[in-house]
Amino acid sequence: MNKLQREVFEEFEQYGQEQVFRFWSELNDDERLSLCRQARRIDIGRLTEIVHTLLKKEKNQEEIFYQGAPFAPADYISLPLDETSRCRWEDAYNLGEQILSEGRVAVFTAAGGQGTRLGFEGPKGTFAVTPVKGKSLFQLFAEKIRFAEKRYGNSIHWFIMTSDRNHNEIIEFFGKNGSFGLSNVHFIKQGSLAAVTVDGKIMLEDKWHIAMHPDGHGGAFRAFVASGANTMLEVQGVDVVSYFQVDNPLVPAIDPYFIGFHRKNRSQMSSRMILKNYPEEKVGVFCSAYGHSTVVEYSDLPIERAIKRNCGGTLCFKTGNAGIHLFERDFFSLMGTEKNEHQLPLHAAKKRIPTIDVNGNPVDPELPNGIKFETFIFDALEFAEYSIIVEGNRKEIFSPVKNSVGLDSPETCRQDQVRLFSKWLVAAGSDMPIDAKGLPPFNIEISPLFADNERDFLIKWNRLEKHPAISSGSYIE
Ligand code: UTP
Repeated sequence: MNKLQREVFEEFEQYGQEQVFRFWSELNDDERLSLCRQARRIDIGRLTEIVHTLLKKEKNQEEIFYQGAPFAPADYISLPLDETSRCRWEDAYNLGEQILSEGRVAVFTAAGGQGTRLGFEGPKGTFAVTPVKGKSLFQLFAEKIRFAEKRYGNSIHWFIMTSDRNHNEIIEFFGKNGSFGLSNVHFIKQGSLAAVTVDGKIMLEDKWHIAMHPDGHGGAFRAFVASGANTMLEVQGVDVVSYFQVDNPLVPAIDPYFIGFHRKNRSQMSSRMILKNYPEEKVGVFCSAYGHSTVVEYSDLPIERAIKRNCGGTLCFKTGNAGIHLFERDFFSLMGTEKNEHQLPLHAAKKRIPTIDVNGNPVDPELPNGIKFETFIFDALEFAEYSIIVEGNRKEIFSPVKNSVGLDSPETCRQDQVRLFSKWLVAAGSDMPIDAKGLPPFNIEISPLFADNERDFLIKWNRLEKHPAISSGSYIE
C-alpha cells in the first residue's frame, strides 16, 4: 500500500467504512488503484453526515410531514374553461411563439436514471416506444425539436443528461443515428453517489467497485454548470431552459403556451401539472407552504392526505407533478453552484442494489437491501422567488414508461399515443372506428415532424389536398 492509498484507507477507517477495502489482499495493482480512485471521489465526511441525518429522518417521515409546514394544495393556472381564460391562453401562446422565434429556448432532457423498473437492457431513451414505427424515445424528442427548429427558423440546443452508467451507450446511439438530423446535441454527465446498507455502510458492487448510482434528476443543475452549458447559452442569448424527463413520449418538449405563461409571470421555475388519476397514484403532488410551492413525493404523502376530498368530492391533493418544467437559465445555473443556501436536500430511498456478500459472492437481492441518496429537480421550487404551475391535459402531455407491465408500461403508453392520434383524426373529421375507450382496433402513428399537438395537426391536415385513408399501421409524417 503506498502513501496515498494508506491515507484513503485511514480516512475510511476513521469514519467506520473500512469494509470498502475488505478484499484488498485479493486485488491486483490495477484493481487497487481503481478502488482507491473511486474512494477518493467520495466526500466521506459529507456522506457520513447525510447518512446520520437521513437515516434518522426516514424513520419519521410521516411524523415530519405532520409536524412540519402547514401544507396546502398549490394554486395553478387551469386549462381554459371560458372565453376569458381562452384569451389568456391565446396571449400566452403568442408570447411563447415570439420567444421561440427569437431563439431564446434550449431543451434539457434528464436521461441519467437507471430505469430499473422497466427492466430494459440499455439506456431508457433508446427504448422503442412508438406504436407503428417503434421509434426510440430519443428519436421522438429529436423530431419534436426538428419540427420547432423549422417552424421558428433557428437551431435549438438540446442537452441530454447522462450518467456514468449510460453515457457512452447514449453517445454511441446518437452517433449511429446521425444525431437524428440535429446539429446541436450536447451530452452532459451527472454526478454519482455511493449506496449504503440500512446501517449506513458503503456498499460494494464487486470486490473492487463501490456501488455508485447517479445523484438524482436534481443533479441536472450541477451537470449543467460544470459542462459550461450556462456560459455558452448566455453568450448566445438563450435564457429559457425547457426541462423534461426521458420516459414520457407525449411531452410537449417546446410548448409556446407554457413558455408564454412562464415569461408573462416572470417565473424563474414553472411546472406542468396533471390531475391525479386516483388518490394513491405514484406521482408527487404540488403543495404550498410558507408562500412557496413545493412537491411532496407520493412516498412522503401520508395516505390520509392522499385520499382526503373536499366537500365537492374532488381530491384535495390532486395536482400531480408531470416532471415538465421551464427554468430561467440564470436560476438553473444558480441552483448548480456550490453556494450553500441553494443546496438541494438529499432524499434517501430503499432500493434493490446488486452487491457481494462477505465472501465476495454476488448477491442480486429480491427485496430492497440498501439505500440510495438522490436530489430532486422539483426541490428547486423552494428557492424560486417567482414560480407558477400550469395545468396540462393529462391525455395530451403525460404517459410515462416506468414499469415493464401494468400501469405506466410500454403497453399503456402505446395505447395512450394511439388514443391521442385518433382523437386528432376524429376532430379533423375522420370516420375511423373508435371503441368506448377511444381506441381504434389497430395501431396508427403521427410523427412530431407532421404535428405534435391537436392545434398544429388540424391546421396541417386541413391544408392537405388529399387526406390519406386511415387503417392498420397508418403513419403520417
Ligand atoms: P425515475 O424516478 O423514474 O428513475 O426518473 P429511473 O432511474 O429512471 O427509473 P427506476 O426508478 O430505476 O425504475 C425520472 C426521470 O429522471 C431521470 C430518469 O432518467 C427519468 O427521466 N433521472 C433519474 C436522471 O436523469 N438521473 C437520476 O439520477 C435519476
